[in-house]
Parts: sequence; C-alpha cells; structure tokens
Amino acid sequence: MAPTTSTISPLLSNVRRTHDFEPLTVEGTIPASLRGTFYKTGPGVFERFGQRVNHSFEADGLMSAVRFTDIGAFGAVKIVESAGYREEEKAGKFLYNSNASWLSRMRAAKNGIAKTTGNTSMFTYNDKLFALMEAGRLQEIDPETLETLEASDLGVVKSGFSAHPHRVSALNTTFNFGVRYGKDMLLDLYALPDTGVAKQIGCLKAPWRGMVHDFMATEKHLIFLLGPAELVLWRALLGLTDLGKLFRWKPELGAQLWVVPLSEPSKPQVFGLDAIWAWHFAGAWDTEDGVIVDVAAYPNFDSISAIAMEQDLVDLPALTRFQTKNQSISKTTIHDTPMDFPTRHPITDGRRYRHLYGATTDGLMHLDLKTETEQRWKSPGGLEGSEPLVVARSEAEDDAHILALIYDDSRSQSGVSIFDASHLADGPVATVWFGQPIPTTFHGTFKTMA
Ligand SMILES: [Fe+2]
Repeated sequence: MAPTTSTISPLLSNVRRTHDFEPLTVEGTIPASLRGTFYKTGPGVFERFGQRVNHSFEADGLMSAVRFTDIGAFGAVKIVESAGYREEEKAGKFLYNSNASWLSRMRAAKNGIAKTTGNTSMFTYNDKLFALMEAGRLQEIDPETLETLEASDLGVVKSGFSAHPHRVSALNTTFNFGVRYGKDMLLDLYALPDTGVAKQIGCLKAPWRGMVHDFMATEKHLIFLLGPAELVLWRALLGLTDLGKLFRWKPELGAQLWVVPLSEPSKPQVFGLDAIWAWHFAGAWDTEDGVIVDVAAYPNFDSISAIAMEQDLVDLPALTRFQTKNQSISKTTIHDTPMDFPTRHPITDGRRYRHLYGATTDGLMHLDLKTETEQRWKSPGGLEGSEPLVVARSEAEDDAHILALIYDDSRSQSGVSIFDASHLADGPVATVWFGQPIPTTFHGTFKTMA
C-alpha cells in the first residue's frame, strides 16, 4: 500500500524551500583546515504534478552544498533542472519516468532518451561540476550557484555514464563506464585524463542484461562485479513498470567478477561466483599475481525496494574480500558489522588501503584493517546519517575530515557534520544546519577552495 502523505518521512518528501548560498547556523568550530565546498545530490523531487514518483530512483535530483569559509558556512539547495525536467515543467506533466503516460514512456524508450536527473552523485572534472545518474549523460552544474547548465557527453559518452567515476592518481586519469542495453548489455569503458580529452578505451559484452552500479580502478586493472539482477527487457521496452520492478533477481545465474587489464581492455579475466549483490566497492589493488578487491556485499537484491521505501533490510551487507591469484579466486568476509557507502582517503585510490569509513545502520564506522579494530559513532536517537566523505587534511592516510549529511528528527532539520577521521567515535566537531530537512542523498564530492 502506498504511504499516505502524513506517514512519509521528510527524507522522502519534497524540500520545503530551494535557495541560493546563504549563511547557515554553525554549532561547534569549523576546522581551519577545512575550506571549500561540499556538494551532495540525491533523489529529491518526490512529488510533481500532484503525483508521487513510483520509485525514488526516478525522482529528479536535489543538490545541497555547503561552503566552508573563514567567515562561516554558507549553504544552497537546488533542483537539477535538466532538459527533461524543464520539458516536463512546460508540459505540466511527467514525460519520462513510470508516472508518465504509456505513450510518452514508449516514445522515450523507443528513442533511447533518458532524463538526466542527476540524482546519484556529484563529480568534478577539469574544473567543471556535474550531477550524475548512471542512465544518462553528465549534467553540468554551476559550482558557484548550483544552477543547472547543459548536459554533456564529454565528446565521447555513448549512452550512460556511471555515477561512480574513479581516479587513479598514479595514472593522472579518472576511469568510468557506461551501460548500454540492446540485444546485449554493453559496458563502454572511458578514460578521462587530468589533462587532454576523454576517450573510450574499450567495450565489453555482458553474458546477461544486468545492473552495474560501481566498479574499481587500480593502476593496472578495472574491476567489475556483475550480479544476477537481470533486466526484464520487454518491461523496459514497453515502459510498463517502475525502476524497482525492471530487474528480476535470478540467483541461478550466479555472479561474475571481471578483471579488465588496462593494457588490453578487450580481454577481461572472468571469475564465476555464487550469487551476490553489491552496490559499492570499498577498495582494490594489484598484487603480483592478481587483484584484491573489497565490496559491501549483500546476499540478495532486496535493497532495491528497501531504498525506495526507507524500509529496514533483513539481509545486511558485510565487507567482503575477493582475491584473484592467476586463474583462481577466493572470497572472505573481512568484517561483519553491516555497512555500506564505504569510502577512503583519496591517497589510497587504486592502492592498498588501511583505513575504511562507512555508513552503518545506526551511524558511521571507521575500520582499521591493520589492527582489525573499529570505531563507531552511534548517532543519538532520532539522528540519521548518510554516506561519509573523506576530505584529506594531508597525505597521511588517517589525517582527514569526515563529512556527512545528517538529519535530526527532534529539530526537523538536516545539517552537515564534520568529524575528525581519527576520532570518529567522539562525534562531530561541528555541524552546520540547513534549517529544514534535506531528502536522503547518495553521493557527493568536495572541492577545495583555490
Ligand atoms: Fe552509489
């Protein structure tokens, strides 16, 4: 049964007010070493034209940003007003998602047009800021005002562009992929050098039409995990259902780990696995005879509907390690505190890491893989956390700020909390408050002040 308006969480409701950068209320002391802007996005426009979206992944993006300066913190909240969003505003009705008329959905599906909702992640490349969602192009955003600019394909993107690009600092390159569905599912592989132009470096064919959300990049490999969530093609082609029902969990397919050599991207090494699902990777690095890759692994795909409805999950994710060694692969659960949204100090991108941070069911976690100890920040009652973002304070792996957008039910408002990465359990050193609830966000980025 659909929730009534009175029972819908403010985290799954339209924001009360969008606004330009304006002063925010600061509690505590913002560290002097934190100067720059924290950008986040998530599905945020849940109701339009008198209708509620059928699945939160279909909602247009809502961006929030906090700028930390010498004279205080300033925040802005804006909708991602993509071309599709504007077209719908003009028409006064949905044209693209499963709320749209069957005719509109058929037309969009036939023409392969997706609305670039920008509801999943924020990404900076070549001094430009983009809001990302995996089924569309990159939606450029003005970093100073959060105004929506034009969508971009970087001159190379064929269809989708994953919301999880990964940079490998040793190669001065950011890697990403995009999924194309048709007779087969294709993964287009892209390399975005720090200087120069983006290019496609490969295209892989999947054995079934699945969903791939994240991947990993090391100095020598790109690594993918294909879970057995299979696209029901006729439903997609006919636009018959919402996103949550477009994929069917088929554990009998098993799963596959692909290790793609950057030196020869057309020749991935494929390892068969038992059925497993992962939205996010924690880290990966090359070894002498293979790779080690850590994921937040779920035993099934139930999270697809739980995310939309803010339901509690029964089967929670555990940090799981796969190690390939020549032709063999092993799997180990390396930590069993349920966690997702794993993140690390950027110095460890593509390299062996020691410190991992993530979101737990009741707060945030810091895991030291060397000492095998964890620190937890359990959010006080009524407080809900989200993905932690690591902002480097120096090149030392444990020297960082952790930023997380939180929601305080007792105040009925959201804020960005700042933690010291080495003392996560002590709680935030400062929180800046928006004065209203900000709907649940997925991923973000931090742009250091020039
Ligand atoms: Fe994600």
